Amino acid sequence: VARPVPVLAIDGPSASGKGTVAARVAQALGWHYLDSGSLYRLVALAALRAGVALEEEGRLAALAAALPASFEDGRVLLDGADVTDDIRSEACSAGASKVAALPAVRAALLDRQRDYRAAPGLVAEGRDMGSVVFPDAALKVFLTATAEARAERRYKQLMAKGMAANMQSLLKDLHERDARDAARPVAPLKKLPDAVLLDTTNLDVEQAVSFVLERVPVAD
Ligand code: DC
Repeated sequence: VARPVPVLAIDGPSASGKGTVAARVAQALGWHYLDSGSLYRLVALAALRAGVALEEEGRLAALAAALPASFEDGRVLLDGADVTDDIRSEACSAGASKVAALPAVRAALLDRQRDYRAAPGLVAEGRDMGSVVFPDAALKVFLTATAEARAERRYKQLMAKGMAANMQSLLKDLHERDARDAARPVAPLKKLPDAVLLDTTNLDVEQAVSFVLERVPVAD
């Protein structure tokens, strides 16, 4: 009997560092990598560009189902154009959190996410990797950090890029997004009983990566 391709699901709140950790773990294992949040960000960007309001569930779901997105060498492409930086803008972050609350949009992205499951394995990060998209994941990690630690990391990232940043407003945005991601009726962000908790408040990337790698079940 063919064994299912193993999935490592890493879920957690905004700016918890799960993207960095998940990408590094995927690299160390030689597995595929899915940044599911980028899909919601792409839907928001496509909607903003097409002038579709972020409340029009039907039209947004149609955009999501036909999303001309691709990923190449860590770059995110929409219609062949590099939008890696565009989807990280505040407008797309806020927009992604809004479109992600719409059940029809989530449903439209489901198969696309599952298509990333390919041998030898997949590291998938987001909010509902362990709960909805890959409930049979071999390992589920809930990666988090205090809002203050997350705001500080985001602050440093923005400063390093030479972008303006304000701690108070970053913290406020994080609290708002956390509340929206956790309170929505569909696929809310929460730690599952079968997920391992990884609090990175006092850990560096190296330590967080090791924590996950030590727990990946080995195929026999
Ligand atoms: O991980 P991120 O910050 O790039 O995610 C962007 C938004 O998309 C965030 O508001 C939560 C939402 N999201 C989601 O609802 N489900 C996922 N699997 C991934 C992201």
